[in-house]
This record gives sequence, structure tokens and C-alpha cells, in this order.
Amino acid sequence: MHLKEALKARERAYVPYSQFKVGAAIRLKDGTFVLGANIENSSYGLTCCAERNALFSLISQGYNKDDIESITVTGDTKGPISPCGACRQVMKELVPKDAKIFLTNLKGDVHETKVDELLPFGFDLNDDKSV
Ligand code: THU
Repeated sequence: MHLKEALKARERAYVPYSQFKVGAAIRLKDGTFVLGANIENSSYGLTCCAERNALFSLISQGYNKDDIESITVTGDTKGPISPCGACRQVMKELVPKDAKIFLTNLKGDVHETKVDELLPFGFDLNDDKSV
């Protein structure tokens, strides 16, 4: 788990509407971190979550899913934060099945999971079971 980096990402959140900051830290196999925070918009539906921003940044910087070791996500939630459905679908596409996903909160609660647990039977054009 990489809570320190996820908290650093969380500080970059742009959340004038919800005030709810979320941070995501992707740890790569070479030790690099790619960070993402949620970014909101006055047209609320254009908001993008921390998890998706981190993953889109990863790809934009020239990395790919096989570079990912783990992801840590944090926010000020009662229990470990739970990614939204859109982020689960994007994780299915861009996070390897064996990468550890640490869902945390500011109190230090941690739930360790993997992409297939977050989105069982999800849509995937590269996966025989869905086509
Ligand atoms: N949000 C995230 O960034 N990640 C999550 O896992 C849950 C929700 C953001 C979206 C929005 O900016 C704010 O939290 C409130 O929904």
C-alpha cells in the first residue's frame, strides 16, 4: 500500500463543488508513481475521478498496463473508499488482473482487492467471455 503518495495526489484535487478530495497513486514495477486526483467542472457530469485521471495519465505518459504493480486510492470516507462504476470499467481495461488495488481512507482502513473482484463479469472486447 502507498498511502503517502495517494495522499499527495489527493492534495491536487480540484473539487469546488463537492469538496470531496480523492487521490490515486499508481505504483509501477520500476518504482515510479503516477498520481491522479479528481477534477470537477461546473457542468457536473464532466467531472473525472482520481482513479481514471491517474490511469489516463499513465497511458498518456507512454506507460501501459503491464507496467502497473499496484494502485492505492484514498478519500475521507467512513470505511475504505469504493471506486465508482465508471472507474471500475476503466480499471478493467487498463489494470492487470494480478495488480493489487488498495482502497483506503484517512483513518488508515484498508481493503485490498483486484480488478476482477471490483467488476465481475464486466464488459471486455478482449475477453472471450464477453464477445
Ligand atoms: N470520486 C473519485 O474521484 N473517486 C471515487 O472513487 C469516488 C468519487 C470523486 C468524484 C467527485 O469529484 C467527488 O468524488 C464526489 O463524487
